[in-house]
Amino acid sequence: MTQTGADVARLFTELLEPTSRSDPYPLYARMRETPVAPLADGFWAVSTRAEITALLHHPGVSKEQSRSTVGGRPRTPGPTPFLFLDPPEHDRLRRLVMRRFTPARVAGMHVRVVALVNALLDAQQHHDQFDVVDDFAYPLPVTVICELLGVPREDEQRFHVWADVLAHNLDPEPGQETISGVAAAQQELSGYIGDLVASRRADPTDDLLSELAVGDDPAGRLADPDLIATLVLLLIAGHETTVNLITNGVLTLLRHPVELDRLRRDAGRAVHVVEELLRYEPPVQFAARYALTDLDVGGATIPQGAGIRLMLAAGNRDPRAVVDPDRFDPGRAEPGHLGFGGGVHYCVGAPLARLEGQVALTEVARRLVAPRLLEDPPPYRPNAVLRGPEHLPVGFAEIVA
Ligand code: HEM
Repeated sequence: MTQTGADVARLFTELLEPTSRSDPYPLYARMRETPVAPLADGFWAVSTRAEITALLHHPGVSKEQSRSTVGGRPRTPGPTPFLFLDPPEHDRLRRLVMRRFTPARVAGMHVRVVALVNALLDAQQHHDQFDVVDDFAYPLPVTVICELLGVPREDEQRFHVWADVLAHNLDPEPGQETISGVAAAQQELSGYIGDLVASRRADPTDDLLSELAVGDDPAGRLADPDLIATLVLLLIAGHETTVNLITNGVLTLLRHPVELDRLRRDAGRAVHVVEELLRYEPPVQFAARYALTDLDVGGATIPQGAGIRLMLAAGNRDPRAVVDPDRFDPGRAEPGHLGFGGGVHYCVGAPLARLEGQVALTEVARRLVAPRLLEDPPPYRPNAVLRGPEHLPVGFAEIVA
């Protein structure tokens, strides 16, 4: 059946409803029937793998709302983090981060991540159930990104409220409470990070924050507003996504006990489990772009100035790219997913997220005896873009050493 643009607009509206959060995939399947279609708010939805991939790499596609004719909410005041900038400014800022946030630095965190994961599981040893979100999947990435950046872990109670507001603001319709709280959250978090920058500059340590603040980089130095915007981006991106990878992972493995058992017997499968999760239940469901020129794609023309929603989660389950796409199959032959995006904005934190996800799921599989879901489907966070369960109660017989 072929859908009209109006149908896709209605499907997208339905997708944003909180009731669609636990299983948006039937809606994505129907959206894919019209790969490129206008929505009600000046954006176009692109839902198929080949078309999304083409636009992720297209020079006529921008991340900057100011280069579009799309109205809507103005950007929050203050400098723009490089996620929302185009080259060359994007590349300059991203390069300064990448020089410090190297694969070797991430690999060096392996032992620490294993220790943190096991400490979180040890803390549950005298219980018979736990909340995977609050007790495991959230504290792990928060602690890791805090230690990496040099943000005091004990301040989490303060900054997580601001980070939640900014993360929810990525949604097309985050609700009035979030919209009216964004400017204050942005200001408070920037002020908090600004104070940390000042204190590290006076007294540097070996964390990323000190290195970026001292800025002896031959490629140039970050001006303070850019430095603060970059650190805010890393802090938010560093934990508001990985929590969902780990929670979605535990949920999916408990729904697929054969795969859980395979991982328990062979930790080497963790690499494939995490890649398949990034395809099957991606923590970032869709991403915004803007057309700098008329774009002929998927049999339609997205007009210059329009907004674009790249439906990454829909592209991940496109039957034209993946055999039997609604099946969770870590052994599948055809590689690839859009879980970390693509092109110049490809996720900076992918190696760290993979490390955390692989270690967390391996240890859950190994240590939890007879784990079972206590609520399925679990309650979901309201977020449509950074989608994941709010809580995931899991019972178990025992946690072995
Ligand atoms: C499972 C966890 C994660 C997922 C699924 C994820 C996903 C993504 C996606 C889809 C994008 C591209 C967005 C777009 O094109 O509009 C992105 C960009 C980004 N991610 Fe991640 N991310 C994860 C973890 C992390 C972590 C741990 C960090 C940092 C430590 C991080 C930092 C960033 C940054 C800085 C960007 C912007 C890159 C740019 O604009 O050049 N992410 N991420």
